[in-house]
Amino acid sequence: MAEHIVKRRLDYEKPDFLISETALTFDLFPEKTVVTSVLLVKRQNTKASHITLDGEELCLVSVSVNDKALSSDEYELNASGLKLCIDCDSVELKIVTEINPKQNTSLEGLYYTQDAYCTQCEAEGFRKITYYLDRPDVLSIFTVTIRTTDAPNKYLLSNGNLVKRYKEGDTDIAVWHDPHPKPSYLFALVAGDFDLLVDTFITRSGRVVNLELYLEKGRLQQGQHALDSLKKAMKWDEDTYGLEYDLDVYMVVAVDFFNMGAMENKGLNVFNSKFVLADAKTATDEDFFNIESIIAHEYFHNWTGNRVTCRDWFQLSLKEGLTVFRDQQFSADMSSYLSTRISQVKVMREHQFVEDTGPMSHPIRPDEVMEMNNFYTVTVYDKGAEVIRMLHTLLSAEGFRKGMDLYFARHDGEAVTCDDFVDAMATANNMDLQHFRQWYSQSGTPLIAVSKKENDLAATTEFTFTQVNPKTADQKEKSPLFVPIVAEFLDTSGKVVDAPSLTNSSIIVNEQHNSFSVEGTNLTPVLLDKFSAPVVIDYDYSIPELLHIIRYASSSYAKWDASQRVFSACIQARYAMQISNATPRGDKLINNRNTLDVQGVLSEYANVLVNADIEGDVLVELLSLPSTETARTGLKTIDPIAFEDASEYVQKSFAEHIGGHALACLSASQVATYQYSVEQVNQRALNASWLKLAVLNEDTRNAALLEIEQRYIQSDNMTDRLNCLKVCQIENIDLFDKLMSSFEQEFGHDAVIMDKWFGLHATTKRVDILAQLDLLRAHGQFTINNPNKVRALIGSFAFYNTLGFHQKHGAGYKYLGDYLLDLDKVNPQVASRIVTPLLQFESFNEPYKSLMKSQIERIFTSKGLSRDLFEKASKALT
Ligand code: PHE
Ligand code: ZN
Repeated sequence: MAEHIVKRRLDYEKPDFLISETALTFDLFPEKTVVTSVLLVKRQNTKASHITLDGEELCLVSVSVNDKALSSDEYELNASGLKLCIDCDSVELKIVTEINPKQNTSLEGLYYTQDAYCTQCEAEGFRKITYYLDRPDVLSIFTVTIRTTDAPNKYLLSNGNLVKRYKEGDTDIAVWHDPHPKPSYLFALVAGDFDLLVDTFITRSGRVVNLELYLEKGRLQQGQHALDSLKKAMKWDEDTYGLEYDLDVYMVVAVDFFNMGAMENKGLNVFNSKFVLADAKTATDEDFFNIESIIAHEYFHNWTGNRVTCRDWFQLSLKEGLTVFRDQQFSADMSSYLSTRISQVKVMREHQFVEDTGPMSHPIRPDEVMEMNNFYTVTVYDKGAEVIRMLHTLLSAEGFRKGMDLYFARHDGEAVTCDDFVDAMATANNMDLQHFRQWYSQSGTPLIAVSKKENDLAATTEFTFTQVNPKTADQKEKSPLFVPIVAEFLDTSGKVVDAPSLTNSSIIVNEQHNSFSVEGTNLTPVLLDKFSAPVVIDYDYSIPELLHIIRYASSSYAKWDASQRVFSACIQARYAMQISNATPRGDKLINNRNTLDVQGVLSEYANVLVNADIEGDVLVELLSLPSTETARTGLKTIDPIAFEDASEYVQKSFAEHIGGHALACLSASQVATYQYSVEQVNQRALNASWLKLAVLNEDTRNAALLEIEQRYIQSDNMTDRLNCLKVCQIENIDLFDKLMSSFEQEFGHDAVIMDKWFGLHATTKRVDILAQLDLLRAHGQFTINNPNKVRALIGSFAFYNTLGFHQKHGAGYKYLGDYLLDLDKVNPQVASRIVTPLLQFESFNEPYKSLMKSQIERIFTSKGLSRDLFEKASKALT
C-alpha cells in the first residue's frame, strides 16, 4: 500500500519552487470538465532540477513548458503526481487535465450535484482538479476563467473580484481575479442557478462590500438570519480586533452536499445548507445559534487563515484553534455567556477528552499524519481554542490584542507556524511563554488531583495540586504543563475569602506538585471556574460542599459544574451498585469513596433548586443531567448498558423529587410569537426541561403528555416542536410515532428539516432498531451520497443510541461495520468520521470491547480500504 505513508512534522522542507501566478480555465461539463492551468513557476532552490506536482485521479491531456509540449518520456506520471525537469529559475508551465465532476462522490475537488458545480479543496483536494504544488506554503495570485455552454448555469463564481462576464457564441464566460496571494486550498469555483440574497456592508474605513448569499431556488427568505449574522460578524471583528474585510464582494453559497460545516475560500465561502437556512418554522434555536457562529467562523478566517495562513498542515490549529476561539468570543457577545461556555465545555468533555483516551490521540499540533482529513478534529479545533483561551486569560484581553496586532504586522501575507503565533504573543507582552508552548506538543488530558490540609493553629488551609499526565496512544513520555486554574474559596457562610496570592484569579499549576495556601479553615474550593484550562480536576468533594457551591459561588458556571458533579456522583454510585450485585440496603450505595444516599442527595438537591433564588438561565443548566462521558469521569471502563440504566434511574428519581413543581412552572409560562432572542431562547429551554421532568414524574406524567401533544400542534416554531418530540421519544413511543408521522407529512419534502426526523428515529430505543434503520435507508429522502443524511441516520445511531449500538451480541457494531465498508467506497471522509464510536473499544467492559474490536479488525482487513479508514483502524489495532 504505497500511498499509505506517514508524514512527519519535523520533516518539513521549504518548497523548491513557488508559483507566482496561476491562471485556470474551466470548460465545464458534468462528466468531462477540461481544466487548463497556466503557472508561472519560480525556482527557489537553485540546486533543484525537477519539480513534482501533486495530482490524484486526474486524466492528463497535455503538459508544456514555455509553450513547448512535452512528450510522455519527458515527464514521470504516477498515482500521486507528475514530475518533470525544470532547470532554470522561471518557466511557464501549461497543464491540461480532464476530470469527471459527476462521478466525484467524495465531495473533494470539483463535484457536480443538484445541477450545480462546486469545489472543496481543503486540505488536499486541489490536486484532484489539476497538477499543482498543493501545499499551503505556496501562495499564488489566481485568475480564473469559467466557461459553460449550459444555459442553466446562471452564476459562474470564483474567488476575488469579477473582472469580466461575457458571451462568445453560446458559451457563457466569467473571469475572476483575486489580488490576494493564496494557497490552493482556498481556491473555489461554483457554477449553477440559485436565488440570490444581497446586501452591503460599509467597512469602518468606508469600503463598500457587496454581500451575496446564493441559495437553493425558493429559499430566499430562509437566508436572512445568515446574512444578518454576517454583518454582525464583520462589525464585531472591526470593533474587537480592528480587522476589516479586503475585497469588494463577499459571497456565501449554500449547498446540500458538503462534507463539513463550511469552508472559508477567499471571498467565496461554501456552506453546508444546514448552516445557512433558517426560519422559525423550520430551524431550532440551536440551528440559529450554529448558523451565527459558523458564518462568523468562516468570516473570521479571512484574517486568521487566509491573510495569514499555515506553513504546513501540522499547523492547522494555527488557523482553526484561533478562529474557533474568535467565534466563541463572538457568540458569547451575541448570546448568553453561560450557555455558550457550557456548550463549549461539553464538546471538550464529551468529545475531546474521549479522543485523548483513544487511538487517535494527538497534540493540537500533530506530529504524524497519514490522511490530513483525519485531523480536522475536536483536538485541533476545540482544544486548540482552549489553548488560545488560556493565553487570553494569562495575557488579559488587552495583552492578547497586542499580540494579535503584532502577529498581523509580522505575518500578513505569509504562511506561518504555531510557534510564530506564540512568539508574537510573547514579544508583544514581554512574557516568557516557553513552558506554555508545551500545550502544542503534548497530547492528552492532564488530571489535577487536589488535596486539602488545614492548619488549625495558623488558621490557614493548604491546597496541594498534583499534576498527572496519563500516557496516551501516541506519546508515552509526558511532562507537567502550565495550567491556569481560576479559583475562589468559600467560607462556611458562603462568602468568598480573600486570596491575594492568586494571579489574575488563577492558581498556576506548573510542576508535578504545587501548593497554595489560603487564610482560613473550613473552606470550600471552587476550582477551574469557566473551565480555565482543558483539564480534569480530581478533588474529593462532599455533597454538602457541592451544594454549598451551588448556593453561594459567585459564578454561575461554577454552580453548573458543581451540579454536574452531584449528578455524576449519583450515577456512579447507582452504577457501582448495579454491577457489583450487592444487595442494596434501601438506596444506600457504596461508591469508591463514600456511602451515598442517592435518593437523599437528589431530594436535597431538588430542594436547593426550588428554594434558592436561581435565575432562569442558570436554572436551565442546573436541571440537566451530565452526558455519559461526563458522568463516567474517573472510570476507566464501563458496561454501557448498565451505565445507561444508572443514568436513567437518576434522571427519573430526580424527576420524582422535583417533578410536581415542574408542571406548575410550565403552565405558568407564556407562549409568544417566535423570536430568536436571548430571553426567548432561555424560556424555551427551560420549558423543555420542565416538560421532560414532568413527563418522567409519575404523578404529572399524563397531564404532561397531554400538554406535549397540544404544544406540538399549536407551536409556531421548530424548537418547541422538536423538544416535544424528544420528550415523548423517551417516554411514550406511541405518541412519538404519531407525532413523527405528522412531522413527516408536513416536512417530508424538505431535505434539511428531514435530517432532524432521521436523527430522532435513529436514536429511539426500540428492540427492532436495526430493522428500522433499514427502512429509513430506503426512505425517499435518504441517500448514502449525502453526508448530512448519513450523519443524521447512521451517525446519530452510532454516537447516541446507546442501547441500539451496544447490543449484547454485537449486532449494532456489525451494522455500523457493514455500513462503513459501503460508505468508504462513496465518501471516505465521512466514513472515517462515523467510525469514531467503534474506536473507543478500550473504554468498555467485555463482551462489548471484543465485539467492537472485531469490527475494526474486519474493516482493517477489507480490500481497497481508503487511507482515511486505514489510518484509524491501524492505529486502533496497535
Ligand atoms: N476549514 C473549514 C473550517 O473550519 C473546515 C473544512 C475543512 C471544510 C476541510 C471542508 C474541508 O472552517
Ligand atoms: Zn475553520
